[in-house]
Amino acid sequence: MTDRASTGAASARRYEDILVVTIDHPPVNALSASVRADLAAAIDAAQADPQVRAILLMGAGRNFIAGADIREFGKPPQPPILPDVCNRIEASAKPVIAVLHGAALGGGLEVALAAHYRVALAGAKLGLPEVTLGLLPGAGGTQRAPRLMGAQAALDLMLSGKHLSAGAALAAGLVDALSNDTDPLDAGLAYTRQLLAVGAGPRRTRDAGALADKAAALAQVDATAVQVERTTRGLYSPARIVEAVRAAIEQPFDEGLRTERALFLQCLDSPQRAGLVHAFFAERDTTKSPALQQTRPRRLERIGIVGGGTMGAGIAVAALDAGFPVTMVEQDDAALERGRARVAQVYDLLVGKGRISAEERDARMARYTGATRYEALDDADLIIEAVFEDLAVKQAVFAQLDRVAKPGAVLATNTSYLDINLIAAATRGPADVLGLHFFSPANIMKLLEVVVGEHTAPDTVATGFELARRLRKIPVRAGVCDGFIGNRILAVHRQAADMMMEDGASPYEIDAAVRAFGYPMGPYQMADLAGGDIGWATRKRRAPTRDPALRYVQIPDRLCERGWFGQKTGRGFYLYPDGARQGAQDPEVLAIIDAERARAGVTPRAYTQEDIQRRYLAAMINEAANVLHQGIAQRPSDIDVVFLSGYGFPRHRGGPMHYADSVGLDRVLADIRGYAQEDPAFWKPSPLLVQLAESGRNFASLNQAA
Ligand code: 3HC
Ligand code: NAI
Repeated sequence: MTDRASTGAASARRYEDILVVTIDHPPVNALSASVRADLAAAIDAAQADPQVRAILLMGAGRNFIAGADIREFGKPPQPPILPDVCNRIEASAKPVIAVLHGAALGGGLEVALAAHYRVALAGAKLGLPEVTLGLLPGAGGTQRAPRLMGAQAALDLMLSGKHLSAGAALAAGLVDALSNDTDPLDAGLAYTRQLLAVGAGPRRTRDAGALADKAAALAQVDATAVQVERTTRGLYSPARIVEAVRAAIEQPFDEGLRTERALFLQCLDSPQRAGLVHAFFAERDTTKSPALQQTRPRRLERIGIVGGGTMGAGIAVAALDAGFPVTMVEQDDAALERGRARVAQVYDLLVGKGRISAEERDARMARYTGATRYEALDDADLIIEAVFEDLAVKQAVFAQLDRVAKPGAVLATNTSYLDINLIAAATRGPADVLGLHFFSPANIMKLLEVVVGEHTAPDTVATGFELARRLRKIPVRAGVCDGFIGNRILAVHRQAADMMMEDGASPYEIDAAVRAFGYPMGPYQMADLAGGDIGWATRKRRAPTRDPALRYVQIPDRLCERGWFGQKTGRGFYLYPDGARQGAQDPEVLAIIDAERARAGVTPRAYTQEDIQRRYLAAMINEAANVLHQGIAQRPSDIDVVFLSGYGFPRHRGGPMHYADSVGLDRVLADIRGYAQEDPAFWKPSPLLVQLAESGRNFASLNQAA
């Protein structure tokens, strides 16, 4: 064993006749320019070294390689580019073996596919997730993966972006062997020695035969192309992935690589790539704050929940899934039983769908305890209240929690709108109180607004973030105001939608325009799904304090007065005959809208899809700027995360702030000033938006400063 060369990001060291090339580029061995240069140099040097019979590629730390360096996208490419590095690996005259552990993703898997043999450790995750970043595998992945696993399996892998386990990768033909070893070096050396012992030489993936039946492969590509056209609604890279795989079948290997490269560069230049990469980093930036990094969370082992309704039960499932023991308190035995049944029902459904085993369900339910006395919460480290949205009820609950909770326990409210400072005032320890605003269904939705009150202590906040980490949620810090970040902004752009509805656009046109922008559903479909009664109750609560200068559209109230609350009552803005989930347009709703227009003295006018989208987005962006300006959100990208992970904002557009930057703040401001001519009370340009637009800056400049 001799030292060979230590070049930094990738270093080479000889173990007898095997040269081990280790990529060591924390945190995830991304293939940045220095790694690519070192890797290429190590491969080249090995060719000339008579003492080297085989080359073993491995990653240092927890992963093989997590892919191309995402931070380099959008910057001028630095040679050697990754496809060339992969080609040099494949061309090696000496066998190249890759040992995969942790993440072998994107360009990382492409490096492995260019190697001649692959062995994976248990726990390895293999995937080509480029589609999630608006890209396609651009280092030979679209040409090599189909040659190993067939067209259909490769398309499924690349279009879903999903990770395969080591076992699944073996079954799919992506790897040649599994190792039980826990150490990648030992596993890789043992496998390489086995190969050398049987005289194995280079075996190039470009020559692999899984596309031999061209006609069958092309039929799969054609069928997938139709499906992609139907299901990916305006996404740019999926259709190009299909095209690249078609090239893998129809063109010789080197020409296929050139086709892939051309398609990759088109994707790289697309605004969708910019939006999706923005989203990737925005989600990871929400936890970045010096205060948070300097503060240790409190102990977090046992969780209490008050209220076993929709949210309480969903939060209980999220906590049980993460391994926490959970105690749920309800008002009486009957309500408690309903709460327990809601939790059990989620697990029964999962068992029914084969997602978890009956044993796993039982293990999770075994961590659940129910009670009707608050004393049962006396050992909880964190108690989350999810009772009715009523300040007096919540204050009474917090007074009880104050009485029974152990010293230092964190007390959280899941309120959607109410003032956390007033809720905290019901306790003797407001420093222990914060808002933890989950989204429904709470066991599925990723967003968690961590709402920090006037007196909330830093370690209380840190505990909220720690909970999010343990529940695998994305936490976003928010300040106290009516609706925090998400619901506050939502109320404003929903108001803009309601005004358009009264002025001439039907709810169906508005929903269609919002869907055409990329949302999975429009605001009125959403209202029908959530239940119109919730918004109605909030409007009634706010009625006494409503600004009389602001226009109030009464159409939603007219529907609620008829008991049309949406899906759950069989009709709302749409009709849902016989429990249908897909709503049908309702002429009676249109008649009610007409009557309201007449009552309000409005002469209806026509809106194009673009008119609708611009007003809807302008209202959202303007209120988001207010939220930032008032310090309710810490940084623009946090607002993007709230809308991407809590409200269905199309991910490829990066979130409202990124979108605003991409169209230009001056255009957004000009739109708002135009609308203000009709309704200056509603369309008041946010001072921050004015300041940024007039100084030629954008929201992203504030991210850098945050
Ligand atoms: N490039 C640059 N930085 C990356 C990165 C990458 N490919 N992958 C992760 N990082 C960074 C993250 O931004 C984060 O940085 P931070 O600490 O400053 O916030 C750090 O690495 C750790 O990442 P996570 O917080 O996500 O750590 P986890 O342990 O939860 O997850 C992971 C690890 C599964 C590797 C996850 O980071 C991941 O999925 N990464 C992206 C993988 C990917 O999409 N690869 C394809 C890239 S595109 C490509 O390869 C193009 C090619 O075909 C040419
Ligand atoms: P829900 O009506 O389904 O459940 C409330 C539960 O609280 C009921 O089971 C009730 O019996 C129980 N409860 C009432 N008073 C109680 C008390 N004093 N002690 C113990 N239990 C008591 O309501 P939901 O939808 O679960 O909402 C709960 C909270 O979560 C509200 O503050 C709501 O604003 C908030 N929220 C709701 C979301 C939603 O989509 N439904 C989303 C995010 C937050």
